[in-house]
Amino acid sequence: MITPRQILGTLSGGRVLDVATGSGGFIHFLIEGLNDFDEIIGIDTTDRGAAAFAAAFKDRPNIRFAQMDATHLDWPNASFDTVCIANSLHHLADLPRVLAELDRVLKSGGQFIVSEMYRDGQTAEQQTHVELHHWWVAVDTAQGITHHETYTREQLIAIIATLNLHPVTLTDVCDLSGDPKDPELIQELGGIIDRYLERAAGLPQAAAPQIAALQQRGEQLRQRVQTIGFHSATTVIAVGTKSATA
Ligand SMILES: C[S@@+](CC[C@H](N)C(=O)[O-])C[C@H]1O[C@@H](n2cnc3c(N)ncnc32)[C@H](O)[C@@H]1O
Repeated sequence: MITPRQILGTLSGGRVLDVATGSGGFIHFLIEGLNDFDEIIGIDTTDRGAAAFAAAFKDRPNIRFAQMDATHLDWPNASFDTVCIANSLHHLADLPRVLAELDRVLKSGGQFIVSEMYRDGQTAEQQTHVELHHWWVAVDTAQGITHHETYTREQLIAIIATLNLHPVTLTDVCDLSGDPKDPELIQELGGIIDRYLERAAGLPQAAAPQIAALQQRGEQLRQRVQTIGFHSATTVIAVGTKSATA
């Protein structure tokens, strides 16, 4: 499988912003892939991932978390050498506004990194991931949490094209090496399905037909995980330079 270093090459991160960082999952990729960096700041609207973030990077004083909404970043224009957004485009209520903010705080000549799974062109095992993900979206949406179904690759390329990056490289990252029916994996996914079923069961009683439909879909997905198996869906990673004239 292609490594983070092969994707990011000899890139020096400088001052890096990781938007919608959650518990900092993408920062592990940055640490592995960047040649070097001065500082990484991860921001997220919620502090749900802050404790896990702090624990993961406790030995790295130059990596820190800040709670902030990406539609209104607290920094002046051109504050960062690198900005990143991973696994989050489909979580945003106002995508154009967030992308405009990222562009604003990125220096001319700086690097924009976007990483996002997509829903088309997947194997049957990867399609299990896509369908599970869309069910998670349905449960989140029923609870009033912003979460959209994933984009197609073509839609992602169109979004990336709006960023005015020259040059830009696109890498499709896909790992089909694991056993798609590994018993530990199936157990882990079963636990996640149980947690989402509990959340669906906790919806207001007025939503009874919706709850029943979500529960049925969850059990069908449990069957699918067992019979077809699971691989993570392919992700596209775009790395591009902000045009000096943008
Ligand atoms: C799937 S998680 C991201 C995970 C992380 N980037 C990673 O790759 O491990 C999506 C995150 O987007 C965050 N989010 C959604 N809208 C946001 C916004 N306007 N500003 C900042 N974070 C936002 C959510 O709170 C959530 O933590």
